[in-house]
Amino acid sequence: MRIQLQNVSKRFGALVALDDVTLTIPAGARVALAGSNGSGKSTLVRAVVGLTPCRGVTVDGIDPFVDRLSTASRIAYVPQVAPLVGAAVGELVEVVAALRRITPREIRQVAAALGLPIDLVDRRPLRALSGGMKQKLLVALALAAPVSLVVLDEPTASLDASARSVFFDLCRERLSGATVLISSHRPDEVAELADRVVTLSDGRIEDDEPAAAWSARRSAGRTLQHSDARIETRPQEVRA
Ligand SMILES: Nc1ncnc2c1ncn2[C@@H]1O[C@H](COP(=O)(O)OP(=O)(O)OP(=O)(O)O)[C@@H](O)[C@H]1O
Ligand SMILES: [Mg+2]
Repeated sequence: MRIQLQNVSKRFGALVALDDVTLTIPAGARVALAGSNGSGKSTLVRAVVGLTPCRGVTVDGIDPFVDRLSTASRIAYVPQVAPLVGAAVGELVEVVAALRRITPREIRQVAAALGLPIDLVDRRPLRALSGGMKQKLLVALALAAPVSLVVLDEPTASLDASARSVFFDLCRERLSGATVLISSHRPDEVAELADRVVTLSDGRIEDDEPAAAWSARRSAGRTLQHSDARIETRPQEVRA
């Protein structure tokens, strides 16, 4: 699916969360959104999946907010923060399986691979799960069925190391050919899942570059910081 943002701005009162963003993500492209906290990544993601109204956003030519139902059935979305729904985990699995035209068992298998045995939490409301358990469930709900657009908002932020490694395996198996939009602070996620990195700053696009160039700049920045730190500590070392 093709994502197009044309001169998109989004305000919350006086605050400008997105400021004249123009971005094309062709079908099959894999794009990461980077940028510091509050730079607008989740706002852009929510506009693309139709959770927030935003003029100038289209997915395959359709406004995702206006046509929310059809968009939701074709997009796999992992939100940064799980919705505070009171529905039990088992009920959510049933509903999403029906929407995606798969069996609940397929979702349960993906969740189990991530280390979340759903049978043990079937009757608990989603909001009563721990942060990592919620994220495992949301990933399982999103990745159990094949889709053509996958939107991930910091999908591994709360996952333990083994779940993170299973998550990357699942992505390798299931996302080939899909359009991927991921918001991330993690170099490992970007390297695994994106070919291109768009960096936001105060709601504007600051950089748009190949993922390899973004990674190289980050490691160069870290090396520079380390060598600066060595220079700063040298006088004390001499005194000692
Ligand atoms: N519903 C809302 N109401 C008011 N302000 C909002 C709302 N959603 C986001 N904002 C503001 O918009 C700005 C961008 O927020 P956003 O969540 O898009 O940032 P982000 O890049 O995803 O940050 P993070 O890395 O912390 O997840 C922030 O200043 C935030 O406070
Ligand atoms: Mg965010």
